[in-house]
Amino acid sequence: MIVTTKKLFEVAYGKYAIGAYNINNLEQTVGLFRGNLQSSAPFIIQLSKGARSYTDKALLEGLIRSADEIFPEAIFAVHLDHGDEETCMDSIESGFYSSVMIDASHEDFETNIGITKRVVDAAHARGLVVEAELGQLGGVEEHIKVDEADAKLTDPKQAREFVQRSGCDSLAVAIGTSHGAFKFSGSQSLHFDVLAEIQKELPGFPLVMHGSSSVPEEEVRRINAAGGKIEGAKGVDANQFARAAELGVTKINIDTDGRLVWTRVHRELFRDHPEVFDLRKPGEIFMTEYANFIAEKNAYLGSEGQLEKVRQLLSE
Ligand code: G3H
Ligand code: 13P
Ligand code: ZN
Repeated sequence: MIVTTKKLFEVAYGKYAIGAYNINNLEQTVGLFRGNLQSSAPFIIQLSKGARSYTDKALLEGLIRSADEIFPEAIFAVHLDHGDEETCMDSIESGFYSSVMIDASHEDFETNIGITKRVVDAAHARGLVVEAELGQLGGVEEHIKVDEADAKLTDPKQAREFVQRSGCDSLAVAIGTSHGAFKFSGSQSLHFDVLAEIQKELPGFPLVMHGSSSVPEEEVRRINAAGGKIEGAKGVDANQFARAAELGVTKINIDTDGRLVWTRVHRELFRDHPEVFDLRKPGEIFMTEYANFIAEKNAYLGSEGQLEKVRQLLSE
């Protein structure tokens, strides 16, 4: 059942975080639904601009609608990840999405507010909620490279002004994470002091943590042992999710870890079975492995086991 992102935030705030997972194809979609049902968790499906144009956005929407029929017990929201103004407007008009993210974080403060407000007005008129971003994460994001050293953490005072003036419904904050497999040059810690300040300025307001893949050492080791070359990869310690959730982080974005599962499954299969050329062979393994990965992740997020409670709250 597709539900509003707003409802999911209301039930989870302060208690646990909802996993927001990106999908690009059929195998990810099936693995995602299976994994969330395996762990009885509500979830958010994210479609990025790149995913929408990989084949055609209509195909992804069709996959999600079909999965909704095949897995009727699932409770989830559909979210546009890192949209620009044009993609947000298109997604809002489509009537398919539960929420959109307008990412104008690379613009100056006033321009970010202006763009975000236009998207908020259009979205609210159609009953959707909007995630915006303030501050800059490190790493690579949609072809924009932001040096880790230059990454700007979210200013808590500015965050309050930004939310008030833009009218956004949730805010992606920069507290030390970055996109991709190469996070943190030194320690893996998040800036909880900054997060606590943001929560003080915006009590009860849902915050979002992007760039939250854990990039497990064992996964990277197996990929490299099977011919990969991913050196120096590092991610967020998933044990920190619970603390982040207490401090108002209600949505945690994870994409890179799923790509690593995909890479490991394919590399190992073709290394160990060079005779294979049936695309369903790695697909079958990936769907199972991805489902297990999602279920494990939901345990860290605290969304594991929350599905029936959410169903009950939605029916009240
Ligand atoms: O934050 C970006 C997400 O990982 C999506 O990546 O734009 O390559 O689909 P993508
Ligand atoms: P990762 O690259 O850490 O998986 O972050 C994904 C993300 O933030 C999607 O918006
Ligand atoms: Zn992101």
